[in-house]
Amino acid sequence: MTETQLVTGGAGFIGSNYIRSILSTTSDQILIVDKLTYAGNLATIQDVGGDPRVQFFEADIVDAGQMRRLFEIHRPRVAVNFAAESHVDRSIDGPRNFVQSNTVGVFELLEAASRYWVKLSGIQRDRFRFLQVSTDEVFGSLGEEGHFSEESHYQPRSPYSATKASADHLVRAYNETYQLPTIITNCTNNYGPYQYPEKLIPVATLNALAGKEIPVYGDGTHVRDWIHVDDHCRAITGVLRLGRPGSTYAIGARNELTNLEVVEAVCDVLEEVVPAADNPELAAVRSEGSPTKGASPNYRDLITFVEDRPGHDRRYAMDPSKIESEIGWSPQRTFEEGLKETVKWYVENQKWCAEVRGGPFKEDRLGLGPTR
Ligand SMILES: NC(=O)c1ccc[n+]([C@@H]2O[C@H](COP(=O)([O-])OP(=O)(O)OC[C@H]3O[C@@H](n4cnc5c(N)ncnc54)[C@H](O)[C@@H]3O)[C@@H](O)[C@H]2O)c1
Repeated sequence: MTETQLVTGGAGFIGSNYIRSILSTTSDQILIVDKLTYAGNLATIQDVGGDPRVQFFEADIVDAGQMRRLFEIHRPRVAVNFAAESHVDRSIDGPRNFVQSNTVGVFELLEAASRYWVKLSGIQRDRFRFLQVSTDEVFGSLGEEGHFSEESHYQPRSPYSATKASADHLVRAYNETYQLPTIITNCTNNYGPYQYPEKLIPVATLNALAGKEIPVYGDGTHVRDWIHVDDHCRAITGVLRLGRPGSTYAIGARNELTNLEVVEAVCDVLEEVVPAADNPELAAVRSEGSPTKGASPNYRDLITFVEDRPGHDRRYAMDPSKIESEIGWSPQRTFEEGLKETVKWYVENQKWCAEVRGGPFKEDRLGLGPTR
């Protein structure tokens, strides 16, 4: 039976990868709803645009009337909410959009979904799911030891994570109060193709390629738990199929790395893909009086430590035992292989990078706080 998935934020990084995975593994129809902020681009979903199973609707999830109409007309079996302002640095400079999209927007989606769901009956009512895509950042910062899990306390420390945390609370409340069959997934840092080039891995790759400094916050020892976006998308598909309504699932690949280790790994992969000695951008930097002038060019030399982000969480790490045992999910991609493929993707898709950065992209350092 052909069913419809309503996918909000589908023109962004994870949403677009999720759509590709659904198209290749199911016969579902997809309704993409996206406001097309700076991070959402039609270029990101161009390859699926011609598929007759895909429809695109430009809308803001905060728009209550539009959201209600979309549910009534398209009658989705599942709604997966990826739509959010997602960049922590931007949330420090301007939290208002984050409150609107990440909290008020989720409230409006929940309202629209529950008004639609309450009128369903039988199998349609039983099978409906509302899945909120959330983050490990809602739990705050870990010390050297331990992991976050479904039982962890909420302790958000940035405007971004605070708005995502409030959304999680609303989602849980709609399940407890109105029995809306909701699921929340809290996932660690994603990497892969189509990530807006303001996040660590695409920035490191593109800056290195262009012979520009690669900024690393503070001393580079902040730890993140990295997962390939394909593994995250498979986890979402798994919990939509087998997850219990009202549940939360922690998703992570048990792959903790410091930011410096990640950036060094990017430099090393890039060296294999575009050797620095053959990269004219790097040769030009060398001839302009770099400290290691005359030495053979090296991407790692571009790593530059910059002032830390205020309230920068030291460490995130997830314990994915519940999703592993209940759903039978486990990550399939190794970081080594996934990173190689990802770095290559950015090298080969610089047209996409230029196109999406063509909007109001700022190269300036964001998220220093006092500059607000
Ligand atoms: N990237 C990660 O590492 C990560 C990890 C865990 C959870 N998440 C969550 O996953 C989701 C997707 O993240 P991403 O990295 O793909 O983000 P992204 O910034 O690449 O994409 C977000 C998309 O949402 C759209 N959007 C924003 N506000 C909207 C609104 N009000 N109405 C409609 N559309 C709107 C944007 O246009 C964009 O297409 C977010 O909810 C994020 O919090 C991300």
